[in-house]
Amino acid sequence: MCGIIGAVSSSNVLPVLLDGLKRLEYRGYDSSGLAIIDQPGKFLRLRAPGKLVELERTVSANGDIDGLTGIAHTRWATHGPPTEQNAHPHISGDRIALVCNGIVENHEDLRIWLTDEGMEFQSETDTEVIVNLIRLHMDRGTDFMSAIRTSIKSLKGAFALGILHADEPGRIIGVRRGSPLIVGIGEDGIYLASDISAMIAQTRKFIVLENGDIVDINRGGMEITNLDGQVQHRDARISDLTPQSMEIGDYRHYMEKEIFEQGQAVSDTLEGRITASRVLEACFGTEADRIFNRTENIQILACGTSYHAGLVAKYWLEDAGMPCQVEIASEFTSRKHPTPNNCLVITLSQSGETIDTLTALDYAKQCGYAHSLAICNVPDSSLVRNSELVFMTHAGPEIGVASTKAFLTQLVALRLLSIVMARKDPSTAQDEADSIRELRELPANVESTLKMNSTIQEIAQQFADKQHALFLARGIHFPIALEGALKLKEISYVHAEAYAAGELKHGPLALVDRDMPVVSVAPNDTQLDKLKSNIEEVRARGGKLIVFADSETRLSSRENLQVINVASVESSIAPIIFTIPLQLLAYHVALIKGTDIDKPRNLAKSVTVE
Ligand code: M6R
Repeated sequence: MCGIIGAVSSSNVLPVLLDGLKRLEYRGYDSSGLAIIDQPGKFLRLRAPGKLVELERTVSANGDIDGLTGIAHTRWATHGPPTEQNAHPHISGDRIALVCNGIVENHEDLRIWLTDEGMEFQSETDTEVIVNLIRLHMDRGTDFMSAIRTSIKSLKGAFALGILHADEPGRIIGVRRGSPLIVGIGEDGIYLASDISAMIAQTRKFIVLENGDIVDINRGGMEITNLDGQVQHRDARISDLTPQSMEIGDYRHYMEKEIFEQGQAVSDTLEGRITASRVLEACFGTEADRIFNRTENIQILACGTSYHAGLVAKYWLEDAGMPCQVEIASEFTSRKHPTPNNCLVITLSQSGETIDTLTALDYAKQCGYAHSLAICNVPDSSLVRNSELVFMTHAGPEIGVASTKAFLTQLVALRLLSIVMARKDPSTAQDEADSIRELRELPANVESTLKMNSTIQEIAQQFADKQHALFLARGIHFPIALEGALKLKEISYVHAEAYAAGELKHGPLALVDRDMPVVSVAPNDTQLDKLKSNIEEVRARGGKLIVFADSETRLSSRENLQVINVASVESSIAPIIFTIPLQLLAYHVALIKGTDIDKPRNLAKSVTVE
């Protein structure tokens, strides 16, 4: 979603802003813009719809641009289409420039009021009300900072802002309410950004602003205050990220790189979390032992791919004797909940900034849910900071919009959790040492599964002229089918639906014909015989099947049935392994279709609006 980068520096900020925008691209956007104070009292503003290359063209056409203070923005359109006029920064009265990530919920009322007060609007955006509101207060005699404070108090919604005053070069005001915003402290300047990746070429030292913080960045340093002007102390930290860890290397796409990093990511996520025979439950937090002992049931909340990881976990946790509910985060907040006793709320999120998941966690707390655990890939994210217990997946930065290695490492985390929970119920008689051995073998199994790449590349050709696909699976692999379908539709724009295979004859079988490829995963588990019947039901109706099958299933290719063997693994880790061919299939189909794989249309990596 929208991204912010701002800089106050001792040298020209233009290259810093353009580099920052490039690094923010992965978040998803459809227009971009920047404003630089190129001489006291004057902004140079350039904006362009479409990809960043369009803005770069506009910049080049403007000759030499030089300024020591600037803000820039990638916009993911919400209010108003992605046009130049709607792109940020928005400027009011040639004096104040502002960029925003988030949504102003009461923008309609404010726009009417501001118009009545004589303010003019140039765009359809909700953001423009903020900049006009600040200017109105200043026109009435309020100073810049007080005008910002007064304006923020009348806004509803979640947002992060970067604000410049043309008469004050060397100064940027940042505001955080809900949406993420951090300050970078470099040798040559101070930076403001939506995430650390945007400023990683300048500095690794950063401060995470808290909700309600207002940072006043100036040449002398910075000061953080709250809405009432009281000074707030925030510690600076050093990020683990390096510019190198964000490089694409020899890969064609970040998604490809991230799929192939999964063996290492799984290994990194396990490291220090297990002994030869035991999961170290302190990896969920120092209070994990006490909280887990009290836990009687689990509620998982997440969105998209992370939600699918939650669905897999339900099978593992309930197998371990722990009742578990899983819900799409944005749906959880839509109704009242009778509060279950001693319920642990688990939120799953790659980014830790997904607003639906954050809101659902807040709502669960209001409803009286006892404890919270976040399983997340981004340290210092809002979700991590709002949760009692935390398990960090060590997947490394995930840039491709389609989540891959974050999903696999979430599954590893949830598998570890289910092993810990199984200790509570001796009747499940799970052998922890066996489960650990299976996990230890996992990185090698991931690596060998990735060797299916060239086979899957050939299979993907069958989708070259296809518009639709069905995914089928049973039991714990049904969520894997959901994930396979999501990957395919997200990056190749092929319409894909996943069904529990038992549901086939209750409706979707009507869709099956020669033009509807049917993809299935067939592990060697208790559901296999039933799945084989479902496969035959498709074949009998002329459907063409592609089945990724455990080599022990003795499924073999015949007319309308193409079987691709996957190395046989224990059923406890099979969902992790069977995810990989489906990721590779989506990737290769998207390559054939020629889509923008890392930045699929209309999507954002970090979804920070509800
Ligand atoms: O950062 P999160 O895990 O909270 O993100 C949730 C979803 O937006 C995300 O998984 C989305 O579905 C992915 N693009 C799927 O590949």
